[in-house]
Amino acid sequence: MSTLQDNTTAATNSSAVGQIGQDVLLEDAARAAAALGDVADALEGRTVLVSGGAGFLGAAMVDVLIHLNRTRFSRPVRAIVVDNFVTGVPARLQALAEDAHVEMINADVSRDFQIETPFHYAIHAAGIASPIIYRAKPLQTADVNVWGLRRMLELARAQSDLQGFLFFSTSEIYGDPDPASIPTREDYRGFVSCTGPRACYDESKRFGETLAVVYHQEFGFPIRSVRPFNVFGAGQRLDDGRIIPDLMSAAARNTPLVLHSDGRATRSFCYISDATAGFYRALLKGRPGEAYNIGNEHEVSIREVADIVAKLSGTPVTFESSQDPHYLTDNPQRRCPDLTKSRTDLEYMAHTPLHEGLGRTLKWAREVLAR
Ligand SMILES: NC(=O)c1ccc[n+]([C@@H]2O[C@H](COP(=O)([O-])OP(=O)(O)OC[C@H]3O[C@@H](n4cnc5c(N)ncnc54)[C@H](O)[C@@H]3O)[C@@H](O)[C@H]2O)c1
Repeated sequence: MSTLQDNTTAATNSSAVGQIGQDVLLEDAARAAAALGDVADALEGRTVLVSGGAGFLGAAMVDVLIHLNRTRFSRPVRAIVVDNFVTGVPARLQALAEDAHVEMINADVSRDFQIETPFHYAIHAAGIASPIIYRAKPLQTADVNVWGLRRMLELARAQSDLQGFLFFSTSEIYGDPDPASIPTREDYRGFVSCTGPRACYDESKRFGETLAVVYHQEFGFPIRSVRPFNVFGAGQRLDDGRIIPDLMSAAARNTPLVLHSDGRATRSFCYISDATAGFYRALLKGRPGEAYNIGNEHEVSIREVADIVAKLSGTPVTFESSQDPHYLTDNPQRRCPDLTKSRTDLEYMAHTPLHEGLGRTLKWAREVLAR
């Protein structure tokens, strides 16, 4: 088992970068814990393995555990974070690594890594989620969604007291849905290219969900999958290449907000603290073997989002073709979840209005870029 070292040591020792923007992150963890309520109590005194725990969603999951230890639990929950930092070393890493109840392991979960500490829950949040990065690393993208998941499943199967496993799938498994299937329910089968530039991501996530169902059928495995719909917020790397980080880094630098499309495609953006509560609800309350949409039902065009950020920041919106010839290939035109199943089974609700989430993200982005 390797521990946090190599390239990450230099980054974490260089300055107190982990503390920058920390107030928004801490508040978001408190908001997520409040939305979870006593559902969180199943985690008390347990150990949770989080792959991809240095990434945006994984770190937010770990932040909630840290918050619960500080405010609610008398027997602490422990987190084991496994990450190979393939998409870079995040600014918040130091804050995570310094917590007494968090163990950091620098390893590639797609390869032969072992873990000696027993655990009760496993969360497979490792992945390469940014279209710009997954097109540059298609094999690693497919590997972590298939081999990485398989390895996590086998590690979890060897545990004597496994309580639950959460697989981070994606709303991209629906591809570019037929308009009659928007809002999209979990039983929609998808309209996805298996050879296009996004296939390394979409198709490997689809196979990941197949593996999840097979483990449930064969071994009675307590696994749930979540399909996040465009989660955004504080903590998401500003150079990640996804639309909100792009808008936020431009706004925080007071430069124009550049759109590489006509802005008419729609998405349903979900603020991180709402989504994090939904992910834990799926892990702790979901029916084993099932998949759940987690997001926000408010559908907006990319242009509308850019206009809100423009209003918040006072920077103009401009249009420019992308240098990347595949920037828009197979890009879904609309995306909006039907959350009936998550509401019914998980009592999941998204509370944060888009403008509030964007305002919080901009505050965080300004603090991070001002350092
Ligand atoms: N953010 C979203 O809106 C969204 C939407 C749908 C699905 N997802 C899925 O949720 C998961 C987390 O997404 P995110 O937004 O936090 O992405 P992210 O890029 O911020 O974080 C992913 C983390 O996984 C790590 N990782 C990648 N490959 C690894 C490997 N082989 N071994 C160990 N660590 C590895 C990366 O270093 C990174 O820290 C991903 O699986 C992603 O596909 C995210």
